[in-house]
Amino acid sequence: MKIAIDGPAGSGKSTVARKLSQRLGLPYLNTGLVYRAFAYIYREEGLENPILLFENPPLVKILPAETRVFYKGKDISQLLGSEDVGKTASEIASLPAFRERINEFFRSLVGEGQVVAEGRDVGTHIFPDAPVKIFLTASAEERARRRCEQLMAQGIPANYQEVLRAIVERDERDKNRPLYPFRPAEDAIVIDTTSLSPEEVVEKILSLVKERV
Ligand code: DC
Repeated sequence: MKIAIDGPAGSGKSTVARKLSQRLGLPYLNTGLVYRAFAYIYREEGLENPILLFENPPLVKILPAETRVFYKGKDISQLLGSEDVGKTASEIASLPAFRERINEFFRSLVGEGQVVAEGRDVGTHIFPDAPVKIFLTASAEERARRRCEQLMAQGIPANYQEVLRAIVERDERDKNRPLYPFRPAEDAIVIDTTSLSPEEVVEKILSLVKERV
C-alpha cells in the first residue's frame, strides 16, 4: 500500500512518516530531502538550468524509516538541512517543468511497490491513487518552534524570528505558485498537530490505515 503524508515545513510530517514507516515496515520516501538533494547539487555544480540535473541525478535509496541520497558515490543525506538549501529547493520547486520531471523520478523509484511517502504534493500529484492520504497542519509559531529545535539538534544555529519569517515566506511561495500550488488533496484527511505528540498522530493514522486495508 502507498501512504501519502503531506504538510508544510514543521507540521511534523517527517517525524510522523518515519515512525509510521517503521511501525509498518514499509520504505520511507522523504520527497523534500530529494528536492533538497537536487537543490544542493544545482548549487554545487553551478548549473544554469535545474532540468539539467536529470541528466545525472542523485541515487536515492528508500528503506524503513530512512531515505538516503548519494551523489558521485558520496552519501550527501546529512548535507541538506540548511535554510539556504531549503530556499533553493523551494525555488526550483516552483518551476512546473522541474516538478513534472521529479514526479516521474519519484514514480519510477517506487514503481508498484509499497511506501510511506511524505512531502507537499504526494497525495495530489505524485501518488494520486494512494488509498491513505494525510495532510498535517500546525500553527506557524509552533512550526517555527519545532524547526528551530530541529536545526539546533543538527548543530545549525537558529533564530526563532528569522525561522518564523522564512516559514511564512516559503508557505506563501509554495501556496501561490500558479501551477501546482500547495494544498491538501480533496480526499486527504487533515490532522492539526499543534497540540498532539508525534506518537498520537501516528496512532491516529494507524487506525485509518487499518480501516482501509
Ligand atoms: O520538506 P522540505 O522543507 O525539506 O522541502 C524543501 C522544499 O522542497 C519545500 O520548500 C518545497 C519543496 N518541495 C515540494 O515542492 N514538493 C515536495 N513534494 C517536497 C518538497
